[in-house]
Amino acid sequence: MSQDEQKRSAGRAAMRYVEDGMIVGVGTGSTVAHFIDALAERKHCIEGAVSSSEQSTRLLKERDIPVLDLNAAGELALYVDGADECDDRKYLIKGGGGALTREKIIAAASKTFLCIIDPAKRVSTLGRFPLPIEVIPMARSQVARAIVKIGGQPVWRDGVVTDNGNWILDVHGLRIADPVGLERDLNQIAGVVTVGLFAQRPADIVLIGEQVMP
Ligand code: 5RP
Repeated sequence: MSQDEQKRSAGRAAMRYVEDGMIVGVGTGSTVAHFIDALAERKHCIEGAVSSSEQSTRLLKERDIPVLDLNAAGELALYVDGADECDDRKYLIKGGGGALTREKIIAAASKTFLCIIDPAKRVSTLGRFPLPIEVIPMARSQVARAIVKIGGQPVWRDGVVTDNGNWILDVHGLRIADPVGLERDLNQIAGVVTVGLFAQRPADIVLIGEQVMP
C-alpha cells in the first residue's frame, strides 16, 4: 500500500470514533484531508467541527460541514489530527504543516486526542523530523540563539506566515530523549508561541493506517 493509501485508511478508520451529535476537533494535513472526506459522508449526523487551520476550514466548508468556534463549543469529546513523528509513548512532533498552535489548543480542549498516521511516522526516538517552533517575528533571532545554546540547529521557514501571523523555526539535530522536559524548557524562551512537541498532552489513541497502536 502506498503512503497516501495508508493515510486514507487512517482517515477513514478514524470514523469509528465519531459519534452522532458530536462536535469534532479537526487537525490539519494530508491525512486529515482524508478524514474530512470521510466525515463529509456523515455530516448530517454530527453537530459540526472545530478547525485547527484556515486550510482545514476551507476543506470543511467546501463539504458543507458546519465550522464552529471553540469558545462556543467548549470541551470537545474528540480531536482527530495527524503527526510528523510518533514514539511508543504516543508523544508527537507536529507542525510540519505550520498549524501547531491551533492544533495544540484544540488538543488541550479535547477529552480524546486520536492521532492518525501512516507507518513512516512511527519512530523510536523523536527528532529526526525537524522540530517546528512558532515564534513572534521580532523574536526570531533571539529564539534561534537560545536554541543553538541547547544544541539545536534552527532554520527559519522563510516565506511562511502562520494563520496567527507568526513565523516558524524548524530545529534540526535534536535527539529528544526527554520530550516532556524539552517541551517545558522551550516554552520558557521569550518569543516562543508554541513548540511542536506534543508530550505534556500526548495522543490518547494512535491509528497507524487502520490499526490501533498498542
Ligand atoms: C500540521 C501537522 C500535520 O498533522 C503533520 O504535518 C502531518 O501531516 P500529513 O498528514 O500531511 O503527513 O502537524 O501542522
